[in-house]
Amino acid sequence: MSKPTVLVTRKLPEAVEARLSRDYDARLNPDDALYERDELIARAEGADAILPCHTEHFDADVFDRLPDSVKIIANFSVGYDHVDTEAARKAGVVVTNTPDVLSDATAEIVMLLMLGAARRAGEGEKLVRTAAWKDWSPAFMVGTQVTGKTLGIVGLGRVGKVVAKRARGFDMKILYHNPSRKTDEDELGAVFYDRLEDMLPHCQFLSLNAPNLPSTRGLLNAERIALLPDGAIVVNAARGTLVDDDALIAGLKAGKPVAAGLDVFNNEPGIDPRYKDLPNTFLLPHIGSATAETRDAMGFRALDNLDAFFAGQEPGDRVA
Ligand code: DGY
Repeated sequence: MSKPTVLVTRKLPEAVEARLSRDYDARLNPDDALYERDELIARAEGADAILPCHTEHFDADVFDRLPDSVKIIANFSVGYDHVDTEAARKAGVVVTNTPDVLSDATAEIVMLLMLGAARRAGEGEKLVRTAAWKDWSPAFMVGTQVTGKTLGIVGLGRVGKVVAKRARGFDMKILYHNPSRKTDEDELGAVFYDRLEDMLPHCQFLSLNAPNLPSTRGLLNAERIALLPDGAIVVNAARGTLVDDDALIAGLKAGKPVAAGLDVFNNEPGIDPRYKDLPNTFLLPHIGSATAETRDAMGFRALDNLDAFFAGQEPGDRVA
């Protein structure tokens, strides 16, 4: 029997590509070039499956134009906001994601963002690299201590829970807001707030860990920023869409929040340039899941989903 054909949109780890090539007729992308819409559709001709990343967008127009041969989109990502799942359902295309395997890596980046923003790591590194570091004094580069502070987590899902655990290592008190209260086992002592507005005044640190949904878009807006306590620090390693950029930038200029650590942005990689001019931002290029271990695990998880689908089973991580 011939192997199913899988269009792989980006360069994947060696071990993942090896398994792909062993089990599938894999159309790899050794140059890691970004396929724009027309090229993506053209390359999908005759493919049974696509294994994309969040860098490719599958909206209703793409589903209309995708060859009928494509039966499954097995994402190499936990987020699937780049896929119009309603359009996928209509087109009869199965969609899967890669949950769980990137929670530890992403939570590490959340901690890095908190520490980086609080301890002014971006400013400090720039001083050293540009040879602008001239002196030391007790007043030099004074930041905010993370240890013992109160952290509010928006979205106590897979990543949010790991963030809570890691933050406890810094003796932080954990609050959370979520669409529904978690069980005691999942909550692990974190204090639940039904209304985000009630939690914000207590958040010395605020971490956004919610998915990109109509209900979370622009969640961090001017009204909510105003509710944060003086000296608050905001971090986001989830999706840029959670933030109203005008509001956050205005807030950072005015000193509330006092700093922000951001790994994700609206319109990546063409982010709002004003973030780069602010000294109180610590900025990373969407690397939450970028560890060798996690990249392998994401690839294998996507392949497990493909294997199940082509074996006539329900893929474990089906989202549409
Ligand atoms: C994810 O998996 O959603 C990460 O943001 C990388 O795409």
